[in-house]
Amino acid sequence: MNQKYLAFVPFIIGVYLLLISLHLIKYNNFIIFITIIFIALLILIYKLNLNNRIEKIMLKSVITNSIYEIEIDNQKYYFIGFRIIGKENNEGKIDYNSELQLAIDTIRRNKERHLKIAIVTLLDPSPGSAIIFYAKKDNDYESFRNETILTKNMIESIAPHITLEPVELKTDTVFPIPKLLGSVSYGGYVGQMKYDIKANRVVIGEYDIELGNIIDATELPVGIRSNDVFRHIGIFGSTGSGKSNTAAIIADELYKKGFDVIILDWHGEYKNLLPKFNLYNNKNYLVLNPINMDDLTTMDITELIGDVLELTEPQKFILYLGLEALNQMKEFSFKSLLQIISANIPDNTYMQRDIKFALIRKIIMIFSGLGEKLFSSESGYTYLDLGEKLRGGNIIDLSFIRNIKLRKLYGLMILKFLLEYVIETKNRDRKIFIIIEEAQNYFSQVNTVINRALQEIRKFNVGLCIISQSPSNVDQEVIKNTSIKIIHSIKSNVDKKVIADSISLEKEEIQILDKLDVGEALLVAPNLRKETLIKVKKVA
Ligand SMILES: Nc1ncnc2c1ncn2[C@@H]1O[C@H](COP(=O)(O)OP(=O)(O)OP(=O)(O)O)[C@@H](O)[C@H]1O
Ligand SMILES: [Mg+2]
Repeated sequence: MNQKYLAFVPFIIGVYLLLISLHLIKYNNFIIFITIIFIALLILIYKLNLNNRIEKIMLKSVITNSIYEIEIDNQKYYFIGFRIIGKENNEGKIDYNSELQLAIDTIRRNKERHLKIAIVTLLDPSPGSAIIFYAKKDNDYESFRNETILTKNMIESIAPHITLEPVELKTDTVFPIPKLLGSVSYGGYVGQMKYDIKANRVVIGEYDIELGNIIDATELPVGIRSNDVFRHIGIFGSTGSGKSNTAAIIADELYKKGFDVIILDWHGEYKNLLPKFNLYNNKNYLVLNPINMDDLTTMDITELIGDVLELTEPQKFILYLGLEALNQMKEFSFKSLLQIISANIPDNTYMQRDIKFALIRKIIMIFSGLGEKLFSSESGYTYLDLGEKLRGGNIIDLSFIRNIKLRKLYGLMILKFLLEYVIETKNRDRKIFIIIEEAQNYFSQVNTVINRALQEIRKFNVGLCIISQSPSNVDQEVIKNTSIKIIHSIKSNVDKKVIADSISLEKEEIQILDKLDVGEALLVAPNLRKETLIKVKKVA
């Protein structure tokens, strides 16, 4: 870039020498003109240089709790800026300058100090004085942070009319960096921000389930209200971002408050997180009896099986007839279902035969082996039995079901049973909380059975916690219908967009979503006035 502009100089001189030789311009004017051009070029080059420098820092800055980690000339620094604000009062004129000077002098005399301080002028977004603390990154983050808090408190107590407010860095903030830090004199922070923390703006409402702490200098505890869980929770984030840990914290608190908690544990993660809960797994699984339901429900069950097995409409119809017949017999087993379909469904034409055998093949694939054991009318729980059985804290480990289609069907059936139980018994005396891991398997756009049931359970003290690592595959209406959203780190752009749309995030906030660490999350809840960055604690 610079070379390009330098090359311009001989060109301009050439043009003007030509103009002089043709007597189109006088020599005196030429000197003045050249000087102006030269100064303009110097300014341009300086600005370009500045921009390049800024970029160099920007690319490497990350922020936590308003503290930046920046790299200049291969040396890493921690860095935090505070706007210097003078408090107004009625005591007459105050000499802010000498107050500040006194404070700074006192701190400079402290030999123990690792962090350096400098007063600078803040250029953007609005001009003013600022003080920055920085230290080489040889020390750990915690000690820098502690020293920052200590130093800030000291300055504020020595200079009682001055407040230091962490600089809210916008994408276009330009910050002067003292020479001491190296050869770079200006830093800007564009796009690479880790968080933009709007500290003092968060108003923490009441809560009775503590989730963790706000990420800012205050680190105030923060949480949600147990009454809000009936308007459902969504927990989203890429794999390993801390979703299950967060869900386990909520589950544990609600259990202590007398909720019946049921976890549909897709990957078998909760046994260690919640050791006190009842565990249903391969040694102790719940057998389901999917008959004794009314016509409408048989239709729903057909839809669920149809969705999981990817049945065609004619296949679904035959399955429906088979289930209806089973319902009349008040008996269910995989064999009787197959017998009914084989015996009662005509196969006079090629087409009928194709439909029938394709269906039978799909049913055998899922209902033989383990599938046969999971569904039975002899030893199985009806939806009413299941609802009664699952009191207290319960983990239903689904991970022992290797066949993913079967796992999905079994999980869907349990969910359907529970929702049916709630609607049928008009549950009001129990508080039920259901955690659904890998929710995209239950609330897809294709399958509306569960989405519909969700509408019906509104009045009945049931809260759902929908967890997914790919929210873009969950029905958007379902996401919109969760009043509490806990959004851990999300890497995929599609998923980020879906979440951002559902809570109308601003552009800067969307950028935060892929930079969160494990356990950090954006919390949206009715008791908080605006979305808040939090660090969730680890489950005990
Ligand atoms: N708040 C937290 N603080 C510290 N460590 C955490 C926190 N949350 C989770 N972890 C740790 O991070 C790891 C992943 O957490 P977790 O299993 O909850 O993530 P996940 O989002 O459920 O992942 P997956 O999608 O794979 O199920 C675990 O080892 C867990 O101990
Ligand atoms: Mg998990």
